[in-house]
Amino acid sequence: MTESIRILMCAPDHYDVDYVINPWMEGNIHKSSQDKAVEQWSKLNQILNDIAQVDLVEGQPGVPDMVFTANAGLVLGENAVLSRFYHPERQGEEPHFKKWFADNGFNVFELPQDLPFEGAGDALLDREGRWLWAGYGFRSELDSHPYLAKWLDIEVLSLRLIDDRFYHLDTCFCPLTGGYLLYYPGAFDSYSNHIIEKRVPESKRIAIAEADAINFACNTVNVEQTVVMNKASSSLKQSLEDAGFTVIETPLTEFLKAGGAAKCLTLRINEPVLPDVHGSTPVESRVLHLEGHLLDAGIMNRSLDLVVDNGGSFKVLNFNLGVERNSISNADVRISAPDHEVMEKIMGQLIELGAASPSDDVSNADTETCDLDGVAPDDFYVSNIYPTEVRVDNQWVRVQKQRMDGSIVINHNADGVTAECKVIRDLVQGDSVVVGVEGIRTVRKKSNRELKVKEEFSFMGAGVSSERRVELVVEQIAWELRQIRDRGGKVVVTAGPVVIHTGGAKHLSKLVRDGYVQGLLGGNAIAVHDIEQSLMGTSLGVDMQKGTPVQGGHRHHLKVINKVRRYGSIAQAVEQGVITQGIMYECVKHHVPFALAGSIRDDGPLPDTQMDLIKAQEEYAQLIEGADMILMLSTMLHSIGVGNMTPAGVKMVCVDINPAVVTKLSDRGSVESVGVVTDVGLFLSLLVNQLNKLTSPYQTV
Ligand code: ARG
Repeated sequence: MTESIRILMCAPDHYDVDYVINPWMEGNIHKSSQDKAVEQWSKLNQILNDIAQVDLVEGQPGVPDMVFTANAGLVLGENAVLSRFYHPERQGEEPHFKKWFADNGFNVFELPQDLPFEGAGDALLDREGRWLWAGYGFRSELDSHPYLAKWLDIEVLSLRLIDDRFYHLDTCFCPLTGGYLLYYPGAFDSYSNHIIEKRVPESKRIAIAEADAINFACNTVNVEQTVVMNKASSSLKQSLEDAGFTVIETPLTEFLKAGGAAKCLTLRINEPVLPDVHGSTPVESRVLHLEGHLLDAGIMNRSLDLVVDNGGSFKVLNFNLGVERNSISNADVRISAPDHEVMEKIMGQLIELGAASPSDDVSNADTETCDLDGVAPDDFYVSNIYPTEVRVDNQWVRVQKQRMDGSIVINHNADGVTAECKVIRDLVQGDSVVVGVEGIRTVRKKSNRELKVKEEFSFMGAGVSSERRVELVVEQIAWELRQIRDRGGKVVVTAGPVVIHTGGAKHLSKLVRDGYVQGLLGGNAIAVHDIEQSLMGTSLGVDMQKGTPVQGGHRHHLKVINKVRRYGSIAQAVEQGVITQGIMYECVKHHVPFALAGSIRDDGPLPDTQMDLIKAQEEYAQLIEGADMILMLSTMLHSIGVGNMTPAGVKMVCVDINPAVVTKLSDRGSVESVGVVTDVGLFLSLLVNQLNKLTSPYQTV
């Protein structure tokens, strides 16, 4: 019944490229030929007239894009949702389209003033009428989708566009008769591709390549078994024919200059309503409250960016700016996400930034019982480094043993309710584990101007730090080390063998000897090469005085390992007078505990190296407990391990010659991390020097 299909078009009498609102228009202002445009449009009009009934809306001066009637609105049955254009350049079209819909007997629905939605350009019915695909990301807001579901009484599936060349859904996506789908996967984020793949079986998906996509092959008018488009490659034509479609190509190059083609130039105005289809949308939204130095600490940017980066959208409902340097700001933001899963992902990250539900709207945290030792419920909340509270029995309970990447377990006992972080392997059957994101908040010091401070201290951005800047940061660290030592605090060092290779052993030894270190963490190698240097003067076979490799020196460390193994432990070797200097020596002599975590590449290992990694992690965790500062010296893996176990509030200083390592480690988003890109041997020598200065103010260097 081809006659029954009705399409709305608008002749290009006033068409031109007058402005730039999409990448196709760039460089094309007034470059389209009016004659050619009329000719191409008329051709399309003729083709469609043969297979459908075409109605016309009169074009208007001053709104050159009105030819693209796909953007007039979205029609389903008697109802039309009028577009709200994102760009002011096109907003002048709205009253004309509204009049046309009203004059032609449609119920016209209008979205709130500031909620953009660009009609059938961004909303395409499944051709079997089962649901509506709706795009967002460039022109239409995610928050418009629930309105579509409600007003048109149809299920809405939200798809996020990520390539600005394909700014409308109909530029990269075209549902076809028989449940087929012609689309360009590269225009969507992975989450949306996943939804598409779940809804449309592989045999019905015609995924096109970029070369076809940029010819607007997805911008196709589909009438029954016919598809009309600007241009298609022979392989695409073949796939369409194999699926039973007749392909008609008709050049629309003049309209491509404005970023549109066949489908954009049309609006289907008699979409049948299926009786058993009803409105629903997985889109979720909720209001969150943010407080603190939202602007100068960058919290606002980070929050809103992460919402969008994860596929959500937001609306700032109110923002009260604290005007004094020290006053804090607060904001209420409505967050929307295409479904529950994305909402939880976004919420998890926002909670970490300190966002919370408004106090009149907090519910208790949800829990699920652990049903298998060492395995958390699927939806378990993953902890972060910040002090966290969970809502239990309508009260906030502070989480103990805060660490990153754990679960949170709630205990009801005689003295009330407690909560603690537990890594998943430690969970036991029956544990009550927090799931979802309700009733969880991180407690940040509102007065922290976090990021600001962080930027002043760390300078990973600048690549390798300048000498003077290293000196400055060393001065700061030396001062803090002194403070911590003098008040009986705790500094833990995690160090890699590079410390030895770069000549840092004597400096680190001195730090241990002088009481600046209360715990040492590392792998087999730091201890091996430290002892190698003590016993043989080399580090990995390199003479530490001359800096040149020693004949057969690569065997030195094995001899050393063997020797220590003979004595049973590093401590024994020290006590027996075999090891007489070095970092490990000082640790033993000054009762500084150390933990050495093994790895697959370890030679030996030394008898002290813990090859059971779970035990090693426990030993690390124990040594870290109560630390005020952690010095991470050129060891990426051990430092990451340490970082994961350490709650916020512990100052971390990460030194590495590789800026990438420093960035990775100090980027915990917390005020306490400082990154120093420099040679670790040099760093340690500067540090020891500076500490000497602090001890004897008159000493000259
Ligand atoms: N220049 C118009 C714009 O950027 C082109 C619209 C194309 N229409 C469409 N449904 N894709 O809005």
